[in-house]
Amino acid sequence: MIRRHDTILTEAAPAKVNLALHLRHKRADGYHALETVFAFTAFGDELTARPADTISLALSGEFAGAAGPDADNLVLRAAHALAAAAGVTEGAEIALDKRIPVAAGLGGGSADAAATLRLLSRLWGLDWSLERLDAIAATLGSDVPACVHSRLCFGAGRGEVLAPWPDDLSGTPVLLVNPRVAVPTGPVFAGWDRVDHGGIAAGAPLATLRNDMTAAACALAPVIGEVLAALAATGPMLSRMSGSGATCLALYHDNAARDRAAAAIAPHGWWQVATHLI
Ligand code: C5P
Repeated sequence: MIRRHDTILTEAAPAKVNLALHLRHKRADGYHALETVFAFTAFGDELTARPADTISLALSGEFAGAAGPDADNLVLRAAHALAAAAGVTEGAEIALDKRIPVAAGLGGGSADAAATLRLLSRLWGLDWSLERLDAIAATLGSDVPACVHSRLCFGAGRGEVLAPWPDDLSGTPVLLVNPRVAVPTGPVFAGWDRVDHGGIAAGAPLATLRNDMTAAACALAPVIGEVLAALAATGPMLSRMSGSGATCLALYHDNAARDRAAAAIAPHGWWQVATHLI
């Protein structure tokens, strides 16, 4: 017999990458109107939860120390937001294996928040649809709705207005490289030169698109330019900075090409992960 307190549920929190990110203008509310292509990787954080009387969080993993104090953690904010919205009085003992680097352009905190919504919706027997979780997700961060769905999609508004993207890239080999520099999002947005180079047409070839935050991020962390040059030299289908950096990604035709690239990049001593898009 399975007793209630034996239940342990697991939820993956895939890392987010921006295959393109076009900035349009600064809005009156301080956010930036943008257009982006979100994709997600098999690599990511992992959460587990079991029933408890109160909501708690324990961190482990390579980047647990960098994830910040519990009170700031988006996982706890997501848990309390869902409990309030659903009128749940139960708690949850949550554990987060933090594998995604923090302040890295990989949406780690957003992915964790989204995974928490999915996980606790199951644990508490709510079984809310992803669409129903979207409204809470948008209050937690601009990237959280995309992370709720964790699938290739187009994002507009401040990132929370989602639409399908007409490509199937699942299985595409990807190399993620971060030069071990934490880059805070706000200052990179603030460093944008405010020149609108145009939006993203549905289905546009990804190679013709850009990340408009690259120059501002490189001004804060010049090593990002070295990462991009090193990735471009490996002959990828596409290489680009993700989000506000500093992580850069490269897509390859096959695993062998990705693994050769990983071997070529390794001597730099940067953080890197070989994975694939989901
Ligand atoms: O929405 P989120 O809390 O994840 O955003 C973090 C910060 O990134 C914001 O405080 C803002 O400085 C910046 N941002 C922005 N425009 C966006 C998304 C985020 O300026 N579209």
